[in-house]
Amino acid sequence: MGVTSHDSIPSLPASLLTGQKALVTGANSGIGRATAIKMGQVGADVVVNYVEDEEAAKEVVSEIEDFGGRAYAHRADVANEDEVVTMLEAMVDRFQTIDILVANAGIQRDAPFENMTISEWQRVLDVNLTGQFLCAREAIKEFVRRGVVPGTSNSAGKIICISSVHQLIPWAGRANYTVSKSGVQMLMETLAQEFSSRKIRVNAVAPGAIRTPMNRPAWETPEAEASLVEMIPYGRVGDPEEIATAAALLASDLLDYVVGTTLYVDGGMKLFPEFLHGG
Ligand code: BGC
Repeated sequence: MGVTSHDSIPSLPASLLTGQKALVTGANSGIGRATAIKMGQVGADVVVNYVEDEEAAKEVVSEIEDFGGRAYAHRADVANEDEVVTMLEAMVDRFQTIDILVANAGIQRDAPFENMTISEWQRVLDVNLTGQFLCAREAIKEFVRRGVVPGTSNSAGKIICISSVHQLIPWAGRANYTVSKSGVQMLMETLAQEFSSRKIRVNAVAPGAIRTPMNRPAWETPEAEASLVEMIPYGRVGDPEEIATAAALLASDLLDYVVGTTLYVDGGMKLFPEFLHGG
């Protein structure tokens, strides 16, 4: 076993989210894909949102169906108000309601600040922040309309915002991305404050370096991975399944008293690891 390996993570109870309906945005790849599959594995019916690569989204659906789950794929750009409204209407139509939103869809368009175009700035904010606003707004309307359904969940609905360690850690060359993620933190906390009395739980997962297509260059070669691991006190890159597990737990009644919290799943990346040997 190399320094970057880890044993497989234990399974969650198979009935953790039984009878609940989950929407996972950006579920055709990376963290979203793993989260959609995890939600299906623990009993939720799942809407697999994607904006491109329909094939990949359909594979996620088949994987969920293969172990007896219910799922379908829905194409929508989370930054487009009409498309988000239609997606939620379709979900209520097919699955009757929504219990869990995992607002995951996110992109990076890195550029040195002085060269960053308005479209690189705007698109990242549109997808990463406005996308979460639109999906959360439409989900909350349904949570409030429906209220708590005894026997399904203690709460009227759960939102898990997928943020990043970069809601906290500044990151040169990614001003658009860091600003979008710090916006996600305040959006999450404000919604948690605003809707907790209506039994809606809003929380976030902030991943560190996770092995996904989005950051492939950072772990693709042994040299790149070794230099990435220097920034991670726990000594390894994370797996998408570890974020999926955190999201499923936050969505479940096991963590019913957790409200307005960010769960960092980052191997300690936000702990200023350079201070281990300096300062
Ligand atoms: C970014 C990744 C990066 C990680 C840790 C994530 O939010 O999307 O590209 O590797 O943060 O820096």
